[in-house]
Amino acid sequence: MTSDPIRLGVIGLGRAFLLTLPAFQSDSRIKLVAACAPRIESRTAFEDAFGGKTYEDISSICADEAVEAIYVATPHQMHAAHVIAAAKSGKHVLVDKPLAISMEDGDAMIAACAQSGVHLIVGPSHSFDTPVQQARALIDSGELGSVRMIHAHNYTDFLYRPRRPEELRTDEGGGVIFSQAIHQIDIVRLLAGGMGRQVMAMTGNWDPDRPTEGAYSMLLNFENGVFASLTYSGYAHYDSDEAMNWVGELGHDKDPELYGVARKALETVMSPEAEAAQKQTRTFGSAQELAPAAHHEHFGPITIFCDHGDIRLTPDGIWIYGNKERRFITAPEMASPRTTVIDALYNALRTNTPPVQTGKWGLASLEVCHAILASAESGNPVQLTRQIDISGREQAS
Ligand SMILES: NC(=O)c1ccc[n+]([C@@H]2O[C@H](COP(=O)([O-])OP(=O)(O)OC[C@H]3O[C@@H](n4cnc5c(N)ncnc54)[C@H](O)[C@@H]3O)[C@@H](O)[C@H]2O)c1
Repeated sequence: MTSDPIRLGVIGLGRAFLLTLPAFQSDSRIKLVAACAPRIESRTAFEDAFGGKTYEDISSICADEAVEAIYVATPHQMHAAHVIAAAKSGKHVLVDKPLAISMEDGDAMIAACAQSGVHLIVGPSHSFDTPVQQARALIDSGELGSVRMIHAHNYTDFLYRPRRPEELRTDEGGGVIFSQAIHQIDIVRLLAGGMGRQVMAMTGNWDPDRPTEGAYSMLLNFENGVFASLTYSGYAHYDSDEAMNWVGELGHDKDPELYGVARKALETVMSPEAEAAQKQTRTFGSAQELAPAAHHEHFGPITIFCDHGDIRLTPDGIWIYGNKERRFITAPEMASPRTTVIDALYNALRTNTPPVQTGKWGLASLEVCHAILASAESGNPVQLTRQIDISGREQAS
């Protein structure tokens, strides 16, 4: 039992909060003390579950002196306003990915947190997944020499899960670039060292009923010579979780017989309002709490090619294919796959040791998202200028 848990407030009691809740609940380093949400149902559910205070407006939760840090889990387009309000009230911030939609908003959020002297951490994101961290540690050990190339791909039904209308409008942060590429970019940047150099990308916008980017392929190279290919399809019929031993993104065993479930459910939805209402059934206070995950989270198959061996990520650990033999390192068991995010928050607040995934890191990953769109539109490579590496060194301007 920790004697000094982080007194956490939450803004936004939707899907993201539901997904991260098992980590909060299973960890004595977190005490959920307050929440802010527009719907009375979710506020009541929070009070019933945790006994904390709830508020309808942002200024009240920010003024609550019992709150030490705030988890911002509202839709992308609200991150900037909510993070800046929290920072101005002296609260540390954990903001769910992506940091923001625009680079300008990201800059303003970073500046507000710096001005108030509070930590800004961008997460959860799949760069916190334990097998990713294991691979990073192995790379740091030097055993396999330099990283040379990374392949990441993920094929899902993302675009056919129930969405709010703006989640299907690119300008408002919709589509797979801001919600899904951001995960893949975060992982690949962490494994490659972080300092991206150039992006060449193509995007797919193939379904007129869901008029936003649903797929992309990109080449991303790094200052240190690493190059990576990242591919995602949110239109997929072939689910790449099949290549992850039928373990889903959140670390649960997946039933292959539930084939086509998202498209089938969407067929029953007749309007954008009905679709948003369907999404709401998957949020805190409406949906059942998540069952414990038997595996770690993942974001699709990822292979790292190094001088003296290759690394393959799985939901249970990492395979290492050396020159003469291969071996598997099992990932340590955790109370929840997202415990690593709490490690990051706790270390930042209690020992002033922030994780790699700070606001500036999140901004660098966001820059890559914009570069995907710009490169796809122009047909040309896009140079990156706002990168930061895993040691915190910023790109020279
Ligand atoms: N890391 C992950 O695995 C993951 C998964 C899902 C979503 N997300 C991120 O979480 C964020 C939210 O997405 P979501 O899918 O949970 O959306 P959601 O619609 O399920 O939840 C958003 C919540 O914010 C609340 N809200 C809206 N306006 C508010 C306001 N002014 N004040 C307080 N609360 C307000 C809504 O009522 C809703 O409950 C997004 O940025 C998304 O990228 C992350």
